Amino acid sequence: MTGKLILPGLIDPHVHLRDPGQTHKEDFYTGTTAALAGGFTTILDMPNNKVPITTLKILNEKIKIAKEKIVCDVGFYFGSVGDNLKEFPKIINKVFGLKLYLSKTTGNFLIDKNILEETFIAWKKSSILPSIRLFSDFEKPILVHAEDDMLDAVITLAKKFGNKVHVCHISTALDLKQIIKAKEEDSRITCGVTPHHLFLTENDVKRLGPFGKMKPQLTSKKNQDFLWKNLKYIDVIESDHAPHTIEEKRGEIAPFGVPGLETTLPLLLTAVSEKRLAIEDVVRLCHINPAKIFGIKTNYRTKVVVDLNSSFIIHNSSLFTKCKWSPFEGFKVKGKVQRVFIRGKKVFENNKIPAKPGFGKIITP
Ligand code: NCD
Ligand code: ZN
Ligand code: ZN
Repeated sequence: MTGKLILPGLIDPHVHLRDPGQTHKEDFYTGTTAALAGGFTTILDMPNNKVPITTLKILNEKIKIAKEKIVCDVGFYFGSVGDNLKEFPKIINKVFGLKLYLSKTTGNFLIDKNILEETFIAWKKSSILPSIRLFSDFEKPILVHAEDDMLDAVITLAKKFGNKVHVCHISTALDLKQIIKAKEEDSRITCGVTPHHLFLTENDVKRLGPFGKMKPQLTSKKNQDFLWKNLKYIDVIESDHAPHTIEEKRGEIAPFGVPGLETTLPLLLTAVSEKRLAIEDVVRLCHINPAKIFGIKTNYRTKVVVDLNSSFIIHNSSLFTKCKWSPFEGFKVKGKVQRVFIRGKKVFENNKIPAKPGFGKIITP
């Protein structure tokens, strides 16, 4: 029996491509080839670059650099530490959301808690005016990295001001319970989980060492089981593709983050083959919901051909990401990306990328 299946082009709403500023870790070309190899045709890039993306000028520079290099479609988020609210109306039509870091992570790009309220209000105002003019009710979300107490603070603000809020990479039962409660209370909250929180636990940290170090950190099997049991409350799967070099990871203070673009889909398809997940869940979590939440236009000629029966072992050396390692090295997975098409053009086949740098489009909502 053939295991060929055609999926719509997958969307990863949470990647860090490191370009410009840290292109020794990844760049727009290598990062987007990794996306295609993983079945992702659209990715949304985070703003915690070496020089964070907090002004129209810096955003425009990033867009210009990306244009020349990308082989899949790429959209951007804007960043803020609370001192650039005047920039919001200028960039609102160029980005898919505002990313706020409320807990410490790569880049030390933390927002001042005292200015959080003002930031929520300013974003809503900037986001809603253009949509009224376009007779649409589409409001761009605020995305948060919010661990522990900071999640409470965000939920309170989301309820108070009615903002659309996406909580990134939730990893614990406690966090998901809070989100479920907030959803029931009619706030406009969505959430994502990462493949590493679904497929690794704190038990893997010993084996992985610095290569298992990320924010939020890997946690208990109990937390992981809770995520799996409550998948219906989870809106998206986001890789949080956060490449760092092997040398950096082995250094004195290993940076937080692991790559993920190429391993998300094989891991999920393996779960499908084990009946832990339905293929419809994969499409909901990696295509339908991210498109809906972030307002991404889809194209029926953008698609991914996978072979559900093809097993392989994840090897660092065959990865397209510049960092050339994965916390899933050595994992046996079932489900391989064979071909990828964007707007009808073949962009990935047999582990090759026929698309030329610049083929991908910079997308806006
Ligand atoms: C991310 C990075 O390296 O940019 N690191 C991480 O551990 N997840 C930042 C982030 O998403 O928090
Ligand atoms: Zn984060
Ligand atoms: Zn991230």
